[in-house]
Amino acid sequence: MIKSLRGMNDILNKDDYTRFTYFIQTATTVAQRYGFHFIETPILEETALFKRSVGESSDIVGKEMYQFEDKGGNDVCMRPEGTAGVVRAFIQNKLDRAGGTHRFFYHGPMFRYERPQKGRLRQFHQFGVESFGQESVYEDATMIMMVADILQKLGIGYRLQLNSLGCKECMPPYRDNLVNFIESVENEICEDCQRRKTTNPIRVLDCKNEKCQSLYENAPKLINSLCESCESDFSKLKKILDANNIAYEIDTNLVRGLDYYSKTAFEFVSDNIGSQSAIAGGGRYDRLVEFLDGRPTPAVGFAMGVERLMELIVMPEEVREGFYLGAMDEEAVELVISLTQKKRQDTKATCEYRSRNLKAHLKNADKANAQYCCVIGSNELESQTIWVKDLLNKTEETISLKDF
Ligand code: HAM
Repeated sequence: MIKSLRGMNDILNKDDYTRFTYFIQTATTVAQRYGFHFIETPILEETALFKRSVGESSDIVGKEMYQFEDKGGNDVCMRPEGTAGVVRAFIQNKLDRAGGTHRFFYHGPMFRYERPQKGRLRQFHQFGVESFGQESVYEDATMIMMVADILQKLGIGYRLQLNSLGCKECMPPYRDNLVNFIESVENEICEDCQRRKTTNPIRVLDCKNEKCQSLYENAPKLINSLCESCESDFSKLKKILDANNIAYEIDTNLVRGLDYYSKTAFEFVSDNIGSQSAIAGGGRYDRLVEFLDGRPTPAVGFAMGVERLMELIVMPEEVREGFYLGAMDEEAVELVISLTQKKRQDTKATCEYRSRNLKAHLKNADKANAQYCCVIGSNELESQTIWVKDLLNKTEETISLKDF
């Protein structure tokens, strides 16, 4: 028997698809309320796009890409995340030259060749948003409030972690400082961190090795050496979150696993799903558009991990809805199909193609979660009526087909 690949799952049982679609619908409604428009970009992109944006030193590009040569000899890659493709589309469609603000949301599968475990898949789904053209830190706050809104609508509790990664003014001197510090403990840190010292020093700060972590407690903190503009933005961000009752923790080790961030970085975590606790992450990436050959454009965004959220969603109680129709005699089957088709123009309606007895139809209607079980037998056919049972209010009546 051929099975699905490791870390790649079907979404097909009722609980899963109900949660999946409920999540996408809820997040879409919220994003639209914030003025965001849907964008769809291809799953397959040139490998160079991810190398230049997510960064060659990141684990995603270094170890986890589904990368191959296509039949035309092109070096291509299945997207490991959504931001790079949206930025590419933004530039390719010359929106960077149009000026103004452009706000997009998207959802779809992402691919990372990671070691699968609970909450960590090789094919997983993200819901994300990207906003271009807003320099104001209030846009960062709006992003965070949007995630908080989506989570609140889904009944999901969270902790919000916040950091500032500085800008091209304050990051380089901090990086030099940090490298000096790393050199002072170089013999005691793990091999990965020794490598990070040269490839991307700030990534040492989120090393999972306990010994490294305890050594880095004494490392210089970027938050203490932000330039005036980053400092002021970070204060404004905290102030507006306070004013809107969004609680946060400052996490000076939050550096994010992708290289394109500057200034605001944030992550929403849940304490109820085990070690893979990040349910959403994002931040500002003011240099990426220019880095991918577009006009300099400030940008900020986030993405949420759908599978991790699915198990946390508090689903609203399922309400009975719409119609189930059935025939009790063979000659009523085609009428049942036509009536179902009419009902479907306004509401949910399903039907059974075979004639069955009443008990079987009531059972089917219950399984379909219909509010009305409607049945036609030879008697009803003759009198041009239909028997209708309201499964919600437990009432029944026979009505004329004209009124039905
Ligand atoms: P990310 O933090 O790499 O950010 O991913 C966002 C979310 O995707 C994570 O918080 C997690 O919930 C989910 N996720 C990541 N990897 C996996 C996996 N292997 N299995 C299941 N879920 C996973 C980004 O991707 C950025 N593009 C976010 C962003 C948008 N920043 C700015 N704009």
